[in-house]
Amino acid sequence: MELKEVLLRRRSIRRFRPDPVPEEYIMELLEAARLAPSGTNLQPWRFVIVESREMRQRLSECTYGMTFIAQAPVTIVCCADLKSIEKRPQRIAELRQAGAFAGTPLESINLEDYLKQRSMDINAARAYLSLNVAIAIEHIVLRATDLGLGSCWVMMFNQKEVKKLLGLGEELIVVALVPVGFPDQDPPPRPRLKVEDILLKRV
Ligand SMILES: Cc1cc2nc3c(=O)[nH]c(=O)nc-3n(C[C@H](O)[C@H](O)[C@H](O)COP(=O)(O)O)c2cc1C
Repeated sequence: MELKEVLLRRRSIRRFRPDPVPEEYIMELLEAARLAPSGTNLQPWRFVIVESREMRQRLSECTYGMTFIAQAPVTIVCCADLKSIEKRPQRIAELRQAGAFAGTPLESINLEDYLKQRSMDINAARAYLSLNVAIAIEHIVLRATDLGLGSCWVMMFNQKEVKKLLGLGEELIVVALVPVGFPDQDPPPRPRLKVEDILLKRV
């Protein structure tokens, strides 16, 4: 599908057919996530695939009424790894090695020093890493549409309960749950603001 068509066709799907999602499709979704851009190439996204009937049911019970999580054959639990920020020097070195900064002002500044000066507190780091994970999540959602699958961002869940259910460590924040499966509904486009409502100015 053309990208424009994917953008036009994507919907939040909240009713799924019971048909399983082929294994290669699940891998394609993870591959789409893997290719996402991230600040200093931190790649802070981590995923848990929930597919057993029992765990799907228990996961849905950690949400605020999102029963379609139990119905979807697969839910991708999308997390941010807080520890990934410690890998910044390594990620920068890889980028430098790969020539990403060649011919730009980034080539000459000492990025390690720059980042040390601009170190983030824990809340800023959580927000920054979640922002990066959101990009990978939207890659998953768009690739799912491309493959004929439906999906839905779900953030109405209890963070503590999901982490406990899945045995996730302190370093992980659950950013969103993404149920995936073949759609059993074909919703119309949802309302959107007009371009003139979102374009503040051109200067
Ligand atoms: C960050 C984010 C969080 C969302 N959380 C939920 C959620 O918890 N439950 C839900 O049913 N839909 C959720 N949605 C889906 C939105 O309701 C949906 O994207 C919006 O109504 C527009 O509809 P569309 O996606 O079909 O275009 C979320 C979407 C985003 C991007």
